Amino acid sequence: MRSLEDVGNLKGNSNAYTRWATFGPYYAMFPIDFAFDIVNKYSEPDDYILDPFAGRCSSVYAGGVLGRNSFGIEINPVGWLYGNTKLQPAEKQEVLNRLLDIYNSRNNYTGQAYQLSRFFRMCFCVEVRKFLLAARTELNWKENNVDATLMSILLIYLHGKLGEGLSNQMRQTKAMGVNYSIRWWTENGYEKPPKINPLEFIAKRIEWRYAKGTPEIETESKVIFGDATIEIETLIEKANQKNIKFSLLFTSPPYWSIVDYYSDQWLRLWLLGGSTKPKFNPDKHKRRFNSKIDYYNLLDTVFGRCAEIMADDATIFVRTDARKFTLETTIEILKKYFPNHLLRQQPKPFKKRTQTELFNHTNKLPKDKYGEVDIILTR
Ligand SMILES: C[S@@+](CC[C@H](N)C(=O)[O-])C[C@H]1O[C@@H](n2cnc3c(N)ncnc32)[C@H](O)[C@@H]1O
Repeated sequence: MRSLEDVGNLKGNSNAYTRWATFGPYYAMFPIDFAFDIVNKYSEPDDYILDPFAGRCSSVYAGGVLGRNSFGIEINPVGWLYGNTKLQPAEKQEVLNRLLDIYNSRNNYTGQAYQLSRFFRMCFCVEVRKFLLAARTELNWKENNVDATLMSILLIYLHGKLGEGLSNQMRQTKAMGVNYSIRWWTENGYEKPPKINPLEFIAKRIEWRYAKGTPEIETESKVIFGDATIEIETLIEKANQKNIKFSLLFTSPPYWSIVDYYSDQWLRLWLLGGSTKPKFNPDKHKRRFNSKIDYYNLLDTVFGRCAEIMADDATIFVRTDARKFTLETTIEILKKYFPNHLLRQQPKPFKKRTQTELFNHTNKLPKDKYGEVDIILTR
């Protein structure tokens, strides 16, 4: 069985496990060594572990690599694709072949590439626009693992610092708005997107990613794409049929009123078939949680249903926001569903400026009043 020592330095890139561990830039994500430490400390090989708000799926991946059966649920296709790929990347040659297919069909999209809005014309050169339109139309990422692997690699490099992605100068973790980006490029001398050959650029990144091999995950570990309030029922049914009890619930739910994973990821969501500009999403779980009632109900449903498949002596480890409403709601609900557990809190104040703070979602609290808190329930 692979131990934490066998995996090695998680911040290095020296083997397949560490190189795939950080696959996928995401927002409010677990540091990868933290995910491995928690799985290692609070569960045993062959145990079942669960993350109903999996994000880029570091918890599920750490569990799989360390020989635990790990299940996650994620509603945002960007996070789900990252997780799905790192748990089961397709064969390198098949991904390269598919890349070539997509590249070869790019000229069918020339007309559309010129019709894209000013934002896209400033963000990507025409060769990249044609290629992205071909990928957006032709990759069957929901059903086919080769296509899912290629698409998740494209999502990583879709935007970032000049030279590190396919775009003009952008941030990597989140996409800025349309007007803001146009104004910023114009004022800072970035009117023209860089000229990039997408085939060469992406093929090089695929070679790098696969250079140390792919992770071998022997346990049953997977991430379900969908809403945890619904998909948890599939897991409950499966657990009941097979008489399985989970020994670790390790998760970080969305924080009330803070992050909007849909508008932050709007450009990646466009590549997955979504709208050409950031758009308000009417689904209450696919936008920022501004309603306290919806937020309470989400945690109440998900933690309540998870409790049904947790072993009596399971550990519950929840990392959340330190701000009052999120923290108090989470504690109240966890106490309700795990009444016989001992609950302790470990504050994790932010030491440096966070993404959330950088992008003005701070609610203007003094620095020492926010950060994150780990809530740990044990028997
Ligand atoms: C704080 S993030 C988790 C980050 C994760 N720990 C990581 O390391 O990437 C919360 C996640 O919950 C997801 N989420 C929000 N509502 C959900 C729902 N109803 N069902 C499943 N996932 C949901 C969001 O899309 C987001 O990825």
